[in-house]
Amino acid sequence: MKVSELRKHAAISAVAVFVGAGVAAAQEKAAPTSSTPEQMVEAINGVFGKHPGFRAVHAKGVVLEGVFTPNPAAASVSKAVHLQKTPVPVTIRFSDFAGVPTIPDTDGMARPHGLAIKFHLPGGGETDIVAHSFNGFPVATTDEFRALLLALAASGPDAPKPTPLDAFLGTHPIAKTFLTTPKPLPVSYATLPYYGVNSFKFTNAKGDVAYVRYQFLPAGGTQIMPADQAAKADADYLGKEIRDRVTHEPVKLEMVAQIAKSGDKIEDPSIAWPDSRRTVDLGTIEITKAAADSAAAEKSLLFLPGAVTAGIDAADPMIDARSAAYPLDFSRRNP
Ligand code: HEM
Repeated sequence: MKVSELRKHAAISAVAVFVGAGVAAAQEKAAPTSSTPEQMVEAINGVFGKHPGFRAVHAKGVVLEGVFTPNPAAASVSKAVHLQKTPVPVTIRFSDFAGVPTIPDTDGMARPHGLAIKFHLPGGGETDIVAHSFNGFPVATTDEFRALLLALAASGPDAPKPTPLDAFLGTHPIAKTFLTTPKPLPVSYATLPYYGVNSFKFTNAKGDVAYVRYQFLPAGGTQIMPADQAAKADADYLGKEIRDRVTHEPVKLEMVAQIAKSGDKIEDPSIAWPDSRRTVDLGTIEITKAAADSAAAEKSLLFLPGAVTAGIDAADPMIDARSAAYPLDFSRRNP
């Protein structure tokens, strides 16, 4: 199915700003995941088709390099090695949402944009974060995500009304909001906030525990393209812009931990936590140059949402499901 058809018939012309639907009173345990990594990757392929050599989703991207410098406050929430004193090198990949490597950056399916970060730890280890430019996820669990993907794939131009997607969205209002709210084009990959969406457990040197979600805030604030410029924007403007931008000045993103309060949903990434929650400034990412060969770099890079280090643990079961699906997709795109 062509993305344009999908967009037209599935009413997902733009994926956009989601306002959290509030916080549930209790932290309920999510049901165990029954979908296998194979089923998840195939369900994604069912929506976007197979494009050998490329990621099943977030297929179009650009790889850059930089450094992360921790803020002194970071050690108060986690003993993780990169959150102490020493700056560490980072590899960054910005991306467009669709699993279509030729998606125009101007297409609604290019958003939410992705931000993947690999921290190169002292001693040779790595830890990753995989985030996107939307504060939330369309569904609460991995199994619901598969159901949404299957509904999308079965709701092409020829599907009788109401389509499976109509039925799904009728019972999943948050997914409907996620899929249908328009989201304007950013000036740059560097002028959007990004959100980790899934929750992690932080442990500091004293053994204190906090549940957190990552946020990445652009130093120059959020900047959206005026409509007249957006109408003329190049299909590949985002990759070109960020490569050019880093030759003039570093791109800076503040990495922030949003701290859950008792009662906040830990295991449901579709519910954003309120903006009033306490945040801790973890440090600054400075992106200083594009990878010499971005295409080769992104092929060999695997970012794993569950690649944590001591002082950080996955707290949302979706993280484990993601960390099983991503390597499977990696092996398929690097046969
Ligand atoms: C159960 C839920 C999810 C599944 C099954 C899933 C699946 C995948 C797969 C198969 C890939 C390609 C991996 C590769 O070939 O390297 C991918 C990439 C990606 N996903 Fe997810 N995903 C899920 C949830 C999420 C969430 C919650 C976010 C946002 C916070 C997200 C953001 C991304 C991004 C940004 C990439 C590109 C990473 C890169 O640049 O290498 N995904 N996802």
